[in-house]
Amino acid sequence: MTRARIGVLASGGGSNLQALLDYLARLGPARAGDVVLVASDRGSAGALARAEGAGVATAVLSTSAGRAGEQLDDVLTRFSVDLIVLAGYLKLIPIDVTRRFVGRMVNVHPAPLPAFGGTGMYGSRAHQAVLAAGVPWSGPTVHFVDEVFDHGAPIAHWPVPVLAGDDDHALAERVLRAEHLLYPRVIQAVASGRLRLGDDGVVTPPFFRDGDVPVFDPALDDASLGRALDLAIEVGT
Ligand code: GRF
Repeated sequence: MTRARIGVLASGGGSNLQALLDYLARLGPARAGDVVLVASDRGSAGALARAEGAGVATAVLSTSAGRAGEQLDDVLTRFSVDLIVLAGYLKLIPIDVTRRFVGRMVNVHPAPLPAFGGTGMYGSRAHQAVLAAGVPWSGPTVHFVDEVFDHGAPIAHWPVPVLAGDDDHALAERVLRAEHLLYPRVIQAVASGRLRLGDDGVVTPPFFRDGDVPVFDPALDDASLGRALDLAIEVGT
């Protein structure tokens, strides 16, 4: 199997990057991709340190308007990246890149979309909006990326309960745990080519078996939650 060359873009701590590296390492020869590059708009991003720790090449992207798109394009070409994984990347992806990577760029958002997404709806703001709305469920949404923030075709959403007494920190922690389990599995499915974005903008086959979206049970340990996800995934790994 030819493995996808994955480029991760991250602005922050990089816990999703770490979860991906760990998951792919656990899959061993069955992994459908390798992280070949981690790029960030912030030289101090923890994600870059994690990449260096794992022996993955890094790049710091210019933030000056105009240069950013060109430079991102160059670095993606230089590393022959064929799948872009956004993991807490806060800059809008330039349109040239989104066009070149249609169906080959994914993002994880820490709340249901489209209800709790869009410009400015990142970090604790998304969790605060969920709490203010008084909804009983939150949870990560993984989607293909287009030129609008949090707008591309949804791939998977894992419902995570909002619990009585939650503040944005407690909710963020629970959702992040779910992200670390869900996102690498979606990336494996996309990298293997078994899950695709059609010309009609629909993702096929569905990530979860029809009517079988599991619910995140915070009382379970990560291994049990991972097994519950694996059982519900249509495309397998
Ligand atoms: C996550 O909450 C993710 O949903 C959002 O950015 C955060 C990144 O966290 N897109 P980390 O840098 O992976 O720890």
